[in-house]
Amino acid sequence: MRQQIARAWPRTIVAQITVLIAISLTLSCIMTAIALHFIQPEPLARLGQASALVRATTIVQLAQRSESDAEIDALLAHANRAGIPVEKIDTPKSLENLSDEGRSVLARYFRRLGGPLDIHGIEKIAFRDNALIVVLDKVSLKLRMPANWTPPPGRVPRFMGVPLMFVLIAVTTFSVVLLFYAARWVIAPLSSFAAAAQAFGRSPKSDYALSEDGPREIALVARALNEMRDRIRELVERRTLMLAAIGHDLRTPLTRLRLHAEQVDSAVIRNRMVREITIIDNMLSDTLAYLKDDSHSEPLSSVDLPSLLQTICTAYIDSGFNVSYQGIDRAIYVCRAASLKRAITNFIENGTKYSSEVVVGLKYLESDVCIEIADNGPGISPDIKEKVFKPFFKGDPSRSGLNRTGFGLGLSIARDIIQAHGGQIDLCDRKPHGLRVHIKLPSKPRMSP
Ligand SMILES: Nc1ncnc2c1ncn2[C@@H]1O[C@H](COP(=O)(O)OP(=O)(O)O)[C@@H](O)[C@H]1O
Ligand SMILES: [Mg+2]
Repeated sequence: MRQQIARAWPRTIVAQITVLIAISLTLSCIMTAIALHFIQPEPLARLGQASALVRATTIVQLAQRSESDAEIDALLAHANRAGIPVEKIDTPKSLENLSDEGRSVLARYFRRLGGPLDIHGIEKIAFRDNALIVVLDKVSLKLRMPANWTPPPGRVPRFMGVPLMFVLIAVTTFSVVLLFYAARWVIAPLSSFAAAAQAFGRSPKSDYALSEDGPREIALVARALNEMRDRIRELVERRTLMLAAIGHDLRTPLTRLRLHAEQVDSAVIRNRMVREITIIDNMLSDTLAYLKDDSHSEPLSSVDLPSLLQTICTAYIDSGFNVSYQGIDRAIYVCRAASLKRAITNFIENGTKYSSEVVVGLKYLESDVCIEIADNGPGISPDIKEKVFKPFFKGDPSRSGLNRTGFGLGLSIARDIIQAHGGQIDLCDRKPHGLRVHIKLPSKPRMSP
């Protein structure tokens, strides 16, 4: 059954909306019919009620016109014989005690039905215990009305009354609710486009494919977008592979070049050559690390953080830089060790590029592990503090005094790694000058996948 409905369901948005409106109108009409059936009394019943009122009015008119008590008695006797139950009663002391229900309406009906005859004191009329009580000049009458008789509705014209209001409210509510859900349902696939675009924007590797069901127009767009996503992903992957291959293949001749350079006789030229080769080598490592992005794939391992930091410092000290470690002696930490080492190396490397002294610190602060890399260089001006983390962003190379800037990937790689560990980086100024890189890592890393 469900499948049959699904098969018969129109495929285009226009047809779907048309069908939905038709369904909602049909349901509204059915609701209206049901409402009217229950609210509106039978036409015949209405006729009965009206004729009882007309009969009562006639008796009251005749009684009012009667000239003697005998005439009234005769009138009442005739009426009762004709099946109109009416009796004389003692004039009620006060009509206030009588039910007020429909009094003014009744009075108006009496006046209208009575034509030119002015029924004096007709306001003295009430409806109680299913009987009309009418106080006339000469006599008070009690006219029993048929069972279930109610005073007719007054001021409001019949068609503007409760039934019409009910119909209006029912139809409007029904149509609005139905159309709201229907429209949402038709448009729902569109909102998933935004989610897919966002996911793809964050990472072209995202597998978020758009559903190709739904109305035909939307399915066509979804298919086109899915194909475009696949093509872009393929393009990005091909470029990445190509760059990685170039980077990787350059390594071999570079290693050979280093071997040759080390055989150069002149110490001055040899050192210069080795330094340049090291710079190219570092640039290649940065590029490969950036392209590989294994900050998310490396397995976790336990390391002693102070030893890891000291190892990096020692490597720089051996190369003649003024780098020192000042921090706690032992701190076992579970992390992606190689990635973390690369991140911290990138910060220390920058410190050695831009300053003459780098101090690396490590301490626990509440539940966080804090690593600090401070230098006495020029620091980073506030307007580029966020930009330096962007891939390929390089500050003014002349500021370093050395032509040792890389591709501008170091900080971007480092931030990816720290964030993958659930940590964060703050770049602070150091007095009188210099940069303090403040890395806060959760003591139990919350690894992002
Ligand atoms: N310790 C530092 N002192 C001053 N400027 C720095 C420091 N570290 C980074 N920078 C600035 O941030 C930029 C980006 O750094 P990075 O991403 O490591 O790229 P790269 O080292 O390849 O230039 C650098 O070009 C430099 O302008
Ligand atoms: Mg760098």
